[in-house]
Amino acid sequence: MVNGTIPVDGPTYIRVGQSGALSGTVRVSGAKNSALKLMAAALLAPGEFTIRGVPHIADVRWMGELLEQMGVGVSQEGGVLTLDVPEIVRPEAPYELVERMRASIVVLGPLLGRFGAARISVPGGDDFGHRPIDMHLRGLEELGATFTTSHGYIEGRVDHLEGTTVLLPYPSVGATENLLMAAVLARGTTVLENVAREPEIADLAVFLNAMGGQVRGAGTSTITIDGVEGLEAVEHTVVPDRIEAATYMAAVGMAGGEVEIVGARPEHMEMLLVKLREMGLDFSPTVDGLTVKAVGRRRSVDVATLPYPGVATDYQPLIVTLLATADGVGIVTENVFGGRFRYIDELLRMGADIRAEGHHAVIRGVDSLSGAQVRAPDIRAGAALVIAGLVADGETLIGDAHHVERGYQDLVGNLVSLGAEVSYSSPG
Ligand code: UD1
Repeated sequence: MVNGTIPVDGPTYIRVGQSGALSGTVRVSGAKNSALKLMAAALLAPGEFTIRGVPHIADVRWMGELLEQMGVGVSQEGGVLTLDVPEIVRPEAPYELVERMRASIVVLGPLLGRFGAARISVPGGDDFGHRPIDMHLRGLEELGATFTTSHGYIEGRVDHLEGTTVLLPYPSVGATENLLMAAVLARGTTVLENVAREPEIADLAVFLNAMGGQVRGAGTSTITIDGVEGLEAVEHTVVPDRIEAATYMAAVGMAGGEVEIVGARPEHMEMLLVKLREMGLDFSPTVDGLTVKAVGRRRSVDVATLPYPGVATDYQPLIVTLLATADGVGIVTENVFGGRFRYIDELLRMGADIRAEGHHAVIRGVDSLSGAQVRAPDIRAGAALVIAGLVADGETLIGDAHHVERGYQDLVGNLVSLGAEVSYSSPG
C-alpha cells in the first residue's frame, strides 16, 4: 500500500477508513474542464503558449498526447503547461485518444477554423449513456463546414468558415466551445444563441481575446464573435476548478468539520451553495476562497441539475451521497445526462436507501453507511464514493480508482491533509 502517492502503475484502489471531522486548508487546481479546452484553442495560433494552473491529471496528459501527435510540443512543469504550436499541424484525432477522452472532440472547431480540415474519430457513448455530437456538427455546418463519415471517422472540410447566426437547441458546453473556437477565425460576425454560460466558457473567451480574438458576451446566453485574420500565442491562468471545490465542500458536509478552500469562487457555484446551505452547511468568504463548516446531521433537500447557473450535473453524485445519510427524504432530478445514476448501485452496496428511476432518484437518509468494496464508474462518482467512505463504518475499497485520477490532481493527498483516513492501494 502506498499512502498519499499514486502507485507507479496507476491507482487501482482507494482505501477509505471512517474518518472524524475534517480541518485545515486545501487549495483547488485550475479547472480540468477549462484547461482541456484552452489546450485545444492553442491550435488556433502558432507559437509558444504558457498556461498556468493546469492540473496534473490523466485527462490533461491525454489531451497533451493528442496535441503531440498533431505536431505540437507539449511540456508540463508543476502547474505550468507549455505548448509549442507549429505553423502546420496534422489535423487528426485518432480512435485511441477520442475513445479514452471524449472531450478531445473540441479540437474540431479550432482545426476547421485554422486549417479548414479535420479528421476525428467519432466518439462513442460512455458511462453517462449516449452522448451525441450532432449540435457540434450542425453548428459547424451552418458556418460552412461539410462532414462525411467513414470507417468510424468524421472528416470535416471548409475553404473558409463564414460568420452567421447559430441557434443551439440546447446550451451544450462542448458545442458552444467548438463553435466559439471555430468562429474566431471565421469571416465576418458570428452570433451564437442559447449557448452554455459556464465559467469555463467565459475563461475560454478571455483566452481567445488575449490571443487577439473579438469575442463578446461569453458567460451570457448570446456570444458574438467578430472574425479576425489571425491570432497569436499567449500566457494565461486557468479559472479555478469549481467541481473540485464542491468535492471538498461535500467531504466536509459528510464528515463534519471546518475547512478553508483556497481558490473556490462562490460566484461560480451560487445555486450549489444555496442547496448546501439548505442542507445545513455554513459558508463564509475568505480572502481567496471560502470556509465551509458542517456540524451535525444534514437535512434532506430536493435538487435538479441544470445547465449553468443551475446546479451542475457534475455535483450530482456528491449531492446524492450527502443525502444518503441526511435527515429525511430528498429527490434528485438529473436533467443533463440520462445515464448518470449508475453509481447508485455502489452506494446501495454501502447500505444507502436510494431508488432511482429514469431521471429521478429518491434518497431516504439512513443513520449510517457501511464500508464495502465498490467500483468507481467515472470521475465524479468515484470522488463521491470516497466521500461516502469517510462516514462508513469500517473500510471502503474503491476499485477502478484511475477514474478519480482523470479529474483530480491529488484528491487522496488533499483529504489526508485534512485529517481523513484515505490512501491509494495497489492490488493484492
Ligand atoms: C461538459 C463537461 C462535463 C459536464 C457537462 C455538462 C467537459 C470536458 N465536460 O461535457 O463535465 O458534465 O459539460 O455541464 O467540459 N448533447 C447532445 N448533442 C450534442 C451535444 C450534447 O444531445 O451535440 C447533449 C448531451 O448528450 C447531454 C447534454 O447535451 O445530454 C449536455 O452535454 P454538454 O453540455 O455538451 O456536455 P459536454 O460538453 O459533453
